[in-house]
This record gives sequence, C-alpha cells and structure tokens, in this order.
Amino acid sequence: MSFLEVRGVSKRFGGITALNDVSLTVEKGEIFGLMGANGAGKTTLFSVIAGHAAPSSGEVLFKGRRITGLPPARICRQGICRTFQIVRPMAGLSVAENVRVAALYGSHGLRPGPQTDAKVAEALAAVGLDDQLETLAGALTLSGQKRLEIARALATGAELVMLDEVMAGLNPTEIAHMLDTLSALRRERGLTFVIVEHVIGALMTLSDRILVLHHGERIAFGTPEDIGRNDQVAEVYFG
Ligand SMILES: Nc1ncnc2c1ncn2[C@@H]1O[C@H](COP(=O)(O)OP(=O)(O)OP(=O)(O)O)[C@@H](O)[C@H]1O
Ligand SMILES: [Mg+2]
Repeated sequence: MSFLEVRGVSKRFGGITALNDVSLTVEKGEIFGLMGANGAGKTTLFSVIAGHAAPSSGEVLFKGRRITGLPPARICRQGICRTFQIVRPMAGLSVAENVRVAALYGSHGLRPGPQTDAKVAEALAAVGLDDQLETLAGALTLSGQKRLEIARALATGAELVMLDEVMAGLNPTEIAHMLDTLSALRRERGLTFVIVEHVIGALMTLSDRILVLHHGERIAFGTPEDIGRNDQVAEVYFG
C-alpha cells in the first residue's frame, strides 16, 4: 500500500481539462517532485488531493483510505497539508500567532496552552524562524513568508506536506537554505513531501522521483536522471 495514491484523476473547469487521467503513488518518506510548464495542472492536482477542488473523476487514497470528496479540514486532520503558491499569511498577526492557529486547526486536538506553545516553537525552529516570533507576518521578507507557510503546515501535524513553489522568487542563498531545511525535515522527522517547483535545479536535487505534467497529462516519470535525459520533457518544458 502506498502512502498516497492518486488514481485516474481528471479535473475539468468548463471547457478546460486541467487534469486528464493522472495517476501516481507517493511512498512514505519520499520527496516526490511535480514538474510542468505554466498551466500544466500542478496546482490543480494539489487542490484535488487536499480537498480544495473535487475531481471530475478518479479518486485519491491516503494510507489506503479514500479521501476523495472530504472537506480540506478533514483531510488536514488525517495528515495532509498543502501550502499555497501565493503566500497568504494572516498579515496582521505575529509569526507565532499564525502558526498557533495552524496548530489548533490541525490533527492534534490541541487546546491553547503549553502543549500548543511547544508545538508552535518546534515548528518555527524547524524552519529557522524562531528568532522572529513576535514579528508581524506581513512584515516578513518573501523568504520568511515562504518559511512561515511551511511552519504552518508542520504545526498541523501533517505527515504529507505539499509545497507549491516555495522557492519561487528566492535568491540563490535562500534557495540553498530552503534545500537544507527540507532535507533535514525529511531526514529528522520522516516527513513525506510532494513539491512543485519551477526552480529545476532545486527540484532535481531534492526529489527521489519526478512526474512531469503537460496540459494536464502525465508525459514522463522517473528519477531526476531519467527526467534530465527525456527528450519529450526537454521539448515541451524547455522549448
Ligand atoms: N478555478 C479554476 N477555474 C477555471 N480554470 C482553472 C481554475 N484553476 C485552474 N484552471 C485552469 O486549469 C489549468 C491548470 O492550472 P494550474 O493552476 O493547475 O496549473 P499549474 O501547473 O499550477 O501552473 P503554474 O505553473 O502557472 O502555477 C490552466 O489552464 C488554468 O487556467
Ligand atoms: Mg501552479
């Protein structure tokens, strides 16, 4: 049984087929990369898995249980959390308060108190934001806001974290720092990641396996080496 299984998922928006019969499996502890040009369907796939969009057909299983059609809060409490391509922290709340809200929303059944405070501190330390607890989220740099998104996902208690372009807009130093953070989270906590990233070097470095979507269809799948030498990928993706 795979940790996450997507079976034949299609998603249509009116006349647009955003996903066409996409299947994939993700194993526990894996970093699974999702690649594809603009409009390929990557964010839509995240939305279907996380319950923010219902598939037109197909199903999603997490730890062997069907989660298709469940609301996002239920899916989150089962252990799946996604970040958003456009970061949207609660700008007027502090960094710590943003993460506290996520911890209370997530799967622990926590109530406000020391246990929640510890969870918040732990999530912020894991992404290197523990020196900015009282900073207003809206005052963080873009890199800080991307880290806050990850801390919020961790605080929900998620076992599977889906990251939608967390490196977009970051400079090379910030990208290197993010690579270290994600590798450490996988190594030290056994977390599983699905990552969407246009920063191809970073995606290739991190991912165990990569799936390439093009106009909603699966066109290639394999190790980063396989993908790097796939002619069809080179043609549709790099032009
Ligand atoms: N809510 C929606 N309503 C209508 N069309 C949508 C909706 N969401 C996505 N689409 C369309 O579905 C297709 C896939 O979009 P999606 O956002 O999943 O692509 P993506 O791979 O994440 O692209 P990008 O790299 O630009 O983020 C696009 O043609 C997009 O315009
Ligand atoms: Mg997208």
